Amino acid sequence: MPDTGLAPPTLPTDRGTSPLDPPGEFAHWRTEGPIRRIALPHGPVHWLVTRYDDIRSVLAHPAASSDITREGFPTPRAGNATRAPGFFITMDDPDHGLFRRMLTRTFMLKNVEAMRPRLQQLTDQLLDELAEQPRPADLIENFALPFPSLVICELFGVPYAEREVFQRNSKVLVDLTSTLEEATAARDAILDYLLGLLKEKDHNPGDDLFSELVVRRIRTGELTPEQAAGMGTLLLVAGHETTANMIGLSTVALLRNPDQLHHLLAEPESVPAAVDELLRYLTIVHNGLRRIALEDFEIGGVTVKAGDGLVIPIQSANRDPAVFDLPDELNLSRSARNHLAFGYGVHQCLGQPLARAELQIALPTLFRRFPDLKVAVPYEEIAFRRQTGVYGISELPVTW
Ligand code: HEM
Repeated sequence: MPDTGLAPPTLPTDRGTSPLDPPGEFAHWRTEGPIRRIALPHGPVHWLVTRYDDIRSVLAHPAASSDITREGFPTPRAGNATRAPGFFITMDDPDHGLFRRMLTRTFMLKNVEAMRPRLQQLTDQLLDELAEQPRPADLIENFALPFPSLVICELFGVPYAEREVFQRNSKVLVDLTSTLEEATAARDAILDYLLGLLKEKDHNPGDDLFSELVVRRIRTGELTPEQAAGMGTLLLVAGHETTANMIGLSTVALLRNPDQLHHLLAEPESVPAAVDELLRYLTIVHNGLRRIALEDFEIGGVTVKAGDGLVIPIQSANRDPAVFDLPDELNLSRSARNHLAFGYGVHQCLGQPLARAELQIALPTLFRRFPDLKVAVPYEEIAFRRQTGVYGISELPVTW
């Protein structure tokens, strides 16, 4: 890229009048300087990688580190981030792998498949309750958020009545307008709560993931309670904010594309592919995955130097026309399984079988139960959540 002498642009977040599409700059940059310098509101200048192939190469590169404690890491907030013990999404191997492997059995496809009847039951219950609400009713509060929250609570053995502590604090954690101090305090509140819960599980273990961590890992000295609480915090935050926002956004996207909604309902065997296309099209993790180079390496003809930060907008990869035909169209008949909405490489989403199963059940069931579902406000007035690490909708009034 020629040096124009101009200050590098900042990471684009403004979606203008197209709230379901990534900011327009990405399409332009994929052809003009696909790997370029980018400024964050704080800290040094970093690399921004915009093409699918280059993004996959970076995410698979052993020298692209996720360790947020390294100096110069492109953190989403100003200040020196601290890492909670066990928060393995921000660690490198071998530590990352040690923690991750303790959880892989729970999220294996086979085990998630066994959860399907319960996922269906929870969906049906929540939708029965929604049907009793005065109209318009908020789909986020009544369905999109409680569904994945209930699932996570049951899986981990967190009493649902105590969800307030992690729902409220998760919101602060993913909200990019909260300061580092506010985000750290929110994280610590979830950690404290989970430390208390782990003590209770030690006295009275049940048939849930936290009890298993106590019995098989903490009592054996493999994990400290603090590490188990850190792993739990990561799972609680990752496990409900994400699916909840996918349900809200998918509802809007399907209502705006009635032919696609018809396809979803008319061909039940196509639901898994349809969900992957929605994951691609909406790519809710929209603030760029972050890495730092541990040594010099090359991507797309550019040399990244040791210590350079990398900002990796997977929403740009998922709209790359080199990989997806007419990428800005929602086309539920395409095969989009190679999308990067769950990331790529060693940190690829651990919860993806669960997220897919939840969406494959929640979306068709919602539209079958309410065949004439409508958003009760004009499209322009929908409250999209823009300043967050996870894109979504804060409130979605619906009627039927
Ligand atoms: C639609 C829903 C979801 C989306 C789009 C999503 C997206 C992602 C992405 C992009 C990453 C990679 C981060 C990186 O490379 O830096 C990730 C990692 C992760 N996700 Fe998800 N996620 C979803 C649901 C879930 C659920 C339901 C859970 C758990 C219950 C979960 C747990 C995790 C964990 C633990 C990691 C860290 C994995 C590691 O570092 O090895 N996610 N997710």
